[in-house]
Amino acid sequence: MKTVTVRASRTYDVQIGSGLLQSAGASLQALFPTPRKVMVVSDDTVRALWGDLLIASLESAGYTVFEFVFPHGEASKTAATIVSLWEALAKTNLTRTDFVAALGGGVVGDMAGFAAATYLRGIPFVQFPTTLLAMVDSSVGGKTGADLAIGKNLIGAFHQPSAVFCDTDTLQTLPDNIFADGCAEVIKYGYINDPELLEMLKKPFADAPDEIIAHCVADKRDLVEADERDTGARQLLNLGHTAGHAIEMLSDFTISHGSAVAIGMVLMAKAAVAAGLCEKDVPTHIEAMLKAYHLPTECPYGADALAKVALSDKKRKGGSITLVLPDKIGNSRLYPVPADTLCEFFKGGL
Ligand code: NAD
Ligand code: GLY
Repeated sequence: MKTVTVRASRTYDVQIGSGLLQSAGASLQALFPTPRKVMVVSDDTVRALWGDLLIASLESAGYTVFEFVFPHGEASKTAATIVSLWEALAKTNLTRTDFVAALGGGVVGDMAGFAAATYLRGIPFVQFPTTLLAMVDSSVGGKTGADLAIGKNLIGAFHQPSAVFCDTDTLQTLPDNIFADGCAEVIKYGYINDPELLEMLKKPFADAPDEIIAHCVADKRDLVEADERDTGARQLLNLGHTAGHAIEMLSDFTISHGSAVAIGMVLMAKAAVAAGLCEKDVPTHIEAMLKAYHLPTECPYGADALAKVALSDKKRKGGSITLVLPDKIGNSRLYPVPADTLCEFFKGGL
């Protein structure tokens, strides 16, 4: 088992390993001595696969367990689901000494975290991420929230978890396409600033899952500790995301988030080379890595369409947009450009 400690506005451990759902009840005693109530939040798919194991562990440790389960998928990540969850928390009389447990992918973690951030002006929550993406990214760092009809993640709060348990056994039931989506985010960390991770990824993921996940969590930890409120260095996590979000939206979400980020990383690397800002060997290195993890690399859209959508994204600041550009293998930097030059910039990557 690996442990990464995050020292943000709250200090907490991220544990990574096998069997962590089974031992969760005992592990939580130090943070939340029983008797306590816990609301386990999950989606229907994850509840059916992994819920019994977690709930049995919590109950046998003496916790009183309640459940809130919603239909799986991004379509559930709404204000309406949050209201239902708030009501469930109130009906069970959860207090500030009780806690919420998020069991699922990023959708579950973001919503359970947001409900915990806002119910009674904030109660603790614990993350049990069950997708690779949630283990390496969304469960760590305290961004919580939900979508509005006009855009993703438009409501939310920063609320750090009290603990994160990445039980790698749960990855065994993950469909291949959702696992591949997570791999795009894993690979992203390598090109942000982790050449050692890129070396590890030359071997199959299954050879060292705990080590690879722990590397990513430590990379995210460093950026969160440097910039918890996401005004500077944390934006490096958006490598591949400016073009990626545009690709996702233009495809009407038929291209998955991970696939879009993969294509976005290649596009930005090629554009950075064309602009004289990146060493020439980077795009082919990224392409080869993504292909090895069954991820796409070719962009099906033109620069005009991409720029139009990217400039309507909430990450734009006034007349400029901050791009994340690789400059050599295993290193990236932030690069603000005037918004009206984005289309030309994208052209260099296509
Ligand atoms: P998700 O939570 O929708 O999970 C994907 C699918 O996998 C779901 O259908 C789910 O039921 C299923 N699933 C989950 N675990 C499983 C398992 N172990 N076995 C079988 N099926 C399983 O999606 P995701 O990719 O985990 O997360 C995407 C969400 O995360 C988005 O809403 C995104 O905005 C958010 N996100 C948040 C942050 C953050 O910092 N808070 C960072 C990145 C992404
Ligand atoms: N996934 C982006 C962030 O946590 O900042």
